[in-house]
Amino acid sequence: MSDALDYLLAVRKDAVASYFQFLKKSGKHLDEKTRSLLSVITKVDAKTEAGFKQYLMRALRAGNSADEILDALLVCMPTLGMSKIIWAVTIILQMDIPEFNPALIGKEKQWHKLAKVDDIAEGVSRFDYAGRACFVNKMGDGLQVFDSRCPHQVTHIPLLALADTTLTCPKHQWKFNIENGECIEKGNRPLNKIDYKIEGDTLYVYA
Ligand code: FES
Repeated sequence: MSDALDYLLAVRKDAVASYFQFLKKSGKHLDEKTRSLLSVITKVDAKTEAGFKQYLMRALRAGNSADEILDALLVCMPTLGMSKIIWAVTIILQMDIPEFNPALIGKEKQWHKLAKVDDIAEGVSRFDYAGRACFVNKMGDGLQVFDSRCPHQVTHIPLLALADTTLTCPKHQWKFNIENGECIEKGNRPLNKIDYKIEGDTLYVYA
């Protein structure tokens, strides 16, 4: 939410709360994927960069692929116009979101070999794979795998950002508990979990 909306919510709570209620109720017959795509389009139309970045990530989390997001932008060309679409794509490229990598566009998720389980140190390690990276938290026989990109604006979080069990994104200082991925300070979204499997003695991630 913008600083201006935060301010209005503080000084005109009833009026602004009604506005948010209206937004919520007006989309109740739409599924989450569709609603998030429409939000992306409204942010592009208004050219609000922070909102666009936020809703773009929400659209990906809701299950939209990069292809679906690009299609939504292009289908709305008659109303957005090419210059706003170029504005949006420029931001997407600056964000360096792996899903939008030309080599991955149109490709299905697949299993990627990460490491031999016995070679993974106890505690938190960071692994690179297929142009991306993830954190593996190994606790005895248990494992958790999280995307290394911040759920706020996809900043790549380095292993150096880990202190004890707290991972702090260097960009806007959202803090995460690496033991469960929950956001524990500043932000409101957890680290993205990555599906994994162990086959034989090897750990694979699905991305
Ligand atoms: S990108 Fe904003 S806190 Fe990580």
